Amino acid sequence: MTNISNNILAGKKGIIFGVMDEKSLAWAVAQHCVNEGAAIVITNTKNATMLGPVKELSNTINTPFIECDATQESDLESLLTKSQEILGGKIDFILHAVAQSTNLRRHKTYEEANYAYFHETLDISALSLHKLLHTALRLDALQKNASILTLTYIASERSMYGYNDMSDAKALLESIVRNFGRILGEKNRIRVNAVSQSPTPTKAGSHWKEESYFYKYSNKLAPLGNASADDLAKLCVMLFSDYSQFVTMQTIYNDGGFSKTLLSPDLVETFRYAFDQEQ
Ligand SMILES: NC(=O)c1ccc[n+]([C@@H]2O[C@H](COP(=O)([O-])OP(=O)(O)OC[C@H]3O[C@@H](n4cnc5c(N)ncnc54)[C@H](O)[C@@H]3O)[C@@H](O)[C@H]2O)c1
Repeated sequence: MTNISNNILAGKKGIIFGVMDEKSLAWAVAQHCVNEGAAIVITNTKNATMLGPVKELSNTINTPFIECDATQESDLESLLTKSQEILGGKIDFILHAVAQSTNLRRHKTYEEANYAYFHETLDISALSLHKLLHTALRLDALQKNASILTLTYIASERSMYGYNDMSDAKALLESIVRNFGRILGEKNRIRVNAVSQSPTPTKAGSHWKEESYFYKYSNKLAPLGNASADDLAKLCVMLFSDYSQFVTMQTIYNDGGFSKTLLSPDLVETFRYAFDQEQ
């Protein structure tokens, strides 16, 4: 990360969900927000604090950590209340970078999904945004002109082998963005958007390591290549800032053009070689 700062988030107060370790997309966003002058609180589950160095990372940027399970309304209420106390006022921005699919982790195929896991996937990865915004509205915790972001993936609108019930969760998540975007926009000019990110090697994206076929495929198809966590963080900073006050209810693609490309010369060459080998 470069330390050049334009202070475009100076005076703003934010909450960042989803920092698990150094590779988490949310960690890149948290660092950029602080670098751009924001005061933030980092939050995650108790489980995450045992699995990754969340608290240690928070300490390195002098940021308070508050435990919260985003599926629990009582936890969300306590997080929003404590954050306002610590930060000294209503919240200007939130990053919801929360997802989990036990079906995916246990390699269950889509047609053989375990329904208890399926419910859990939808609750953690999509409904948690609804619960968060519902609670924030009830507590009147959001500043006028606040900006809410969540992270999604293009498999929300395309059938993708292996992405499993997370596809359905992302489709629901993007719908919640539109519906709450209208309500919060009308109420207090609060905008709600989803950023659709390239495959990025993280814990949730562990099957998308840089050496994986799909990561390479995506990188070859996208005219600009895959966007990194750092690229995502810069976009998030802009979307949290006052430079994006009329952008709302959108799914914004930070994917190097992947979502709009059918075939690239690079891939034609790769396929030609593979198909020639088959003959
Ligand atoms: N990595 C990618 O390639 C990629 C691409 C597009 C979108 N995304 C999305 O970005 C977001 C962040 O994922 P990541 O790739 O940084 O992986 P990650 O594993 O670092 O982050 C997922 C986070 O969700 C948190 N979480 C799980 N259950 C929770 C709960 N009940 N309450 C609160 N937090 C909970 C985890 O603790 C973890 O910090 C996810 O929504 C993911 O689907 C990732």
